[in-house]
Amino acid sequence: MIALITGGTKGIGKEMAISLSKRGYDLILVSRTDKGLDEIKSKCNTNVSFYSFDLSNEEDNYKLLEETKNIDIDIFIANAGYGDIGYITKTDTDKEVNMIKLNDISTFILTKEFLKRFIAKDKGKVLVTASAAAFGVAPYMNIYYATKSFVYSMAHGYYRELKDMKSKVTISVLCPGPVKTGFEERANAKFTIGSLKPEYVGEYAIKKMLKNKFEIVPGFGIKTAHLFSHITPKKTISKMLRKQSEIKD
Ligand SMILES: NC(=O)c1ccc[n+]([C@@H]2O[C@H](COP(=O)([O-])OP(=O)(O)OC[C@H]3O[C@@H](n4cnc5c(N)ncnc54)[C@H](OP(=O)(O)O)[C@@H]3O)[C@@H](O)[C@H]2O)c1
Repeated sequence: MIALITGGTKGIGKEMAISLSKRGYDLILVSRTDKGLDEIKSKCNTNVSFYSFDLSNEEDNYKLLEETKNIDIDIFIANAGYGDIGYITKTDTDKEVNMIKLNDISTFILTKEFLKRFIAKDKGKVLVTASAAAFGVAPYMNIYYATKSFVYSMAHGYYRELKDMKSKVTISVLCPGPVKTGFEERANAKFTIGSLKPEYVGEYAIKKMLKNKFEIVPGFGIKTAHLFSHITPKKTISKMLRKQSEIKD
C-alpha cells in the first residue's frame, strides 16, 4: 500500500504521513525541501521516499506525475499550501499569485490526474486539504480564503461525479481551523483563537478518510462554526472574521 502526500514533510502533512505509516503504508512525500524528513523516517517503519518539487511551478506538477506514472499508488493527498495575511496596500501580489498557483492550480492538476488514474482501476482514495476558510469570507486574508473555497468546491463536484458513476474511488476534503504548524510564520500572521495540534488533525483526517467520510472537520468549535456559516450572512461573517488573526507589522 502506497500513499503520496504533497507537503508531507511538515505540519499537518507530516502527521498524516506518520498516521498512514502506522497503518502499513509506504510513503512518497513531496515538498520543496527535505527539512523534517529525517524525523519522519525515524518515526516510520515503512518505506519513505521523497521528491523535491516546487508545486507552485506548474511544470513541476507534470514532472511529479511523470515520475509516479508507473507506481501503483493507493492514496493521494493534495495538502501543500500556505496562507497570507495583510492590508491590501501592503500584501505582496507575487506571493499571492504564487499561493493561488500552489493552493489551487497544483491541487487541481494533481487531484484530477490521480482521480483519473484511480477511476481507471476503480480503486483509490484522494484527500484534499482545504480549510475552514472555505466556509467563510474574510478581510485581510481574502485571497487565501478564496483559494480554499476553490478546493472545497472542486472536491464537492468530484465527490458527486464519483457517486454518479458508482465508482469505488473516494474523495475527502479536510477543513481544519487554526492548527499549530509553520502556517502562521509563512502567512505572516498570529492566530488570536485557539489552535489544534497537528498530531490530532493529521490522525483525525486519516481515520475519517479511511472510513470514506467526505467532509472532515476537526474540532468541536469549527464544526459549530461550520453549522452557523450556513445561516449567517456573508457580510456578518467577514465582520466577525476580521480579528481572527493578528497581522504582524
Ligand atoms: N495550519 C493551519 O492553521 C491550517 C488550517 C487550515 C488549513 N491548512 C492547510 O493545511 C495545509 C498544510 O499546511 P500546514 O499548516 O501543515 O503548513 P506547514 O507546516 O507550513 O507545511 C506546509 C507543507 O507544504 C510544503 N510546501 C510549501 N510550499 C510548497 C511548494 N511550493 N511546493 C511543494 N511543497 C510545498 C512544505 O514543505 P517545504 O516548505 O519544504 O516546501 C510543508 O511540507 C495547507 O494547505 C494549509 O493551507 C492549515
